[in-house]
Amino acid sequence: MRNILIDCDPGHDDALAIMLALANSDQLKVLGITTVGGNQTLEKVSENVLKVLTVAGKKVPVAKGAAKPLINPLKVAPKAHGDSGMDGPVVDKVTLGYESKNGVEFLKDQILASEQRITVVALGPLTNIALLLKTFPEVKERIACIALMGGSFSSGNATAAAEFNFYIDPHAAYMVFHSGIPIIQAGTEVSQAAGILHSEIGRFLGKGRVSDFVYDLLQFYSRFSKGLNSDRSPVFDACPVMYLLHPEIFTSKDYYVDIELQGEFTAGMSITDKRVWYNMPEPNTTVLLDVDRDKFIQYLTEAIFILDKERKGNRDIKKAE
Ligand code: BDR
Ligand code: CA
Repeated sequence: MRNILIDCDPGHDDALAIMLALANSDQLKVLGITTVGGNQTLEKVSENVLKVLTVAGKKVPVAKGAAKPLINPLKVAPKAHGDSGMDGPVVDKVTLGYESKNGVEFLKDQILASEQRITVVALGPLTNIALLLKTFPEVKERIACIALMGGSFSSGNATAAAEFNFYIDPHAAYMVFHSGIPIIQAGTEVSQAAGILHSEIGRFLGKGRVSDFVYDLLQFYSRFSKGLNSDRSPVFDACPVMYLLHPEIFTSKDYYVDIELQGEFTAGMSITDKRVWYNMPEPNTTVLLDVDRDKFIQYLTEAIFILDKERKGNRDIKKAE
């Protein structure tokens, strides 16, 4: 069993990643979820976490973290995720609330209180994680690794060079990659390989509340890739979670990865040092390169159906409805 903390900015794919983790409670214990301004404002993405937990019928502590990147202004992504950050599904009754602590302090307390070293799963801009490491350096030795979605091996998405999460807060990404903590990086390429085909979305319709929620999520989310004439939508943020559950379906390689801060065209770009050369820096990152797509989608689908099954057996949820 692995103890994890999820830092995120839902985000359709963040929502899927959270549900994937929650469904696999025999392998992953989600100690808490923190939020960060990214796909949408902090208020909106935090509300979206509560919606996901409500639909999944799970109680997990949620703490709000940083509203803005360390230095840059926040730029949100309504084109991909809509005005709410998670457009598509409607969730009316949200009764869950937030921890009174700030997300960064919450992360620190959870990490120091855990007997086991923690795996941090980071699915948005790395602002909270950078603040955590800077403010409370004592947590470093209690973190087993940071499994994150961000960056790319060769090409960006927010810009030609930079992936969205690193583009939004490059300074935070820089601090995380220089922290000395082992990193598992799912970038744009493996996320693209882990695409759900538009033709696969229908399997979720009419199977239960959670599946219907996922259907509505994917119906909205797939508009973006349909506009690009792609037959699939990359499930970015589910990749690092899936790797923790099923590393055997991924190919990966260890590299030294750094973050560009200055470039006029390259700010936020992750640089993977692919050289075979003398005096190379030691690898700091396990870079996920490819994945068995069919297995990825199979495990993701099974996770959603598990949550539906659990929900049907949960009397408290039925009473609340
Ligand atoms: C990343 O950016 C966000 O839009 C997604 O949620 C994901 O974390 C992909 O570049
Ligand atoms: Ca995200």
